[in-house]
Amino acid sequence: MVKVLFVCLGNICRSPTAHAVFEHKVAQRNLQHAIAVDSAGTAAYHINKPPDKRSQREAQKRGYALGQLRARQVAETDFSNFDYILAMDNANLIDLRQNCPKEYRSKLELFLHYGGSSETEVPDPYYGGEEGFQHVLDLVESAADELLEEIITQRRLL
Ligand code: 4NP
Repeated sequence: MVKVLFVCLGNICRSPTAHAVFEHKVAQRNLQHAIAVDSAGTAAYHINKPPDKRSQREAQKRGYALGQLRARQVAETDFSNFDYILAMDNANLIDLRQNCPKEYRSKLELFLHYGGSSETEVPDPYYGGEEGFQHVLDLVESAADELLEEIITQRRLL
């Protein structure tokens, strides 16, 4: 099993969006048996809360259901447990690096390393309007496509 963890600050906007979009794409390729997906936040503010209503609404318009997800904080065991640990922005990456045992640091990278965007970070949409949430989805959909192809090739899954 290849295990993928998406990480943002609150685990209520960006990383649950990435979680649901990537899981949807994994299912479309019938790879649920081979790839496990989860998400978490570096902060504890929103533990056990469902994704932000605005994230849910914009995702729903594109056919992704976020409503069953609940926020959790990154745990020490995540660093050994997951194979890919993908940060939405540089602040998330720095936070992860500070908490990650050295032996696992190579698992950490920016999610937008994938997807061919000129942007390197998925911007935090929390304090903005709905266009910010749409932009998150645009970035996440492209990066998720390329990440999935990379994992399929790397692990010879198809
Ligand atoms: P996320 O967005 O990191 O994409 O889940 C945020 C959610 C909540 C807060 C900031 C960002 N907050 O400050 O409460």
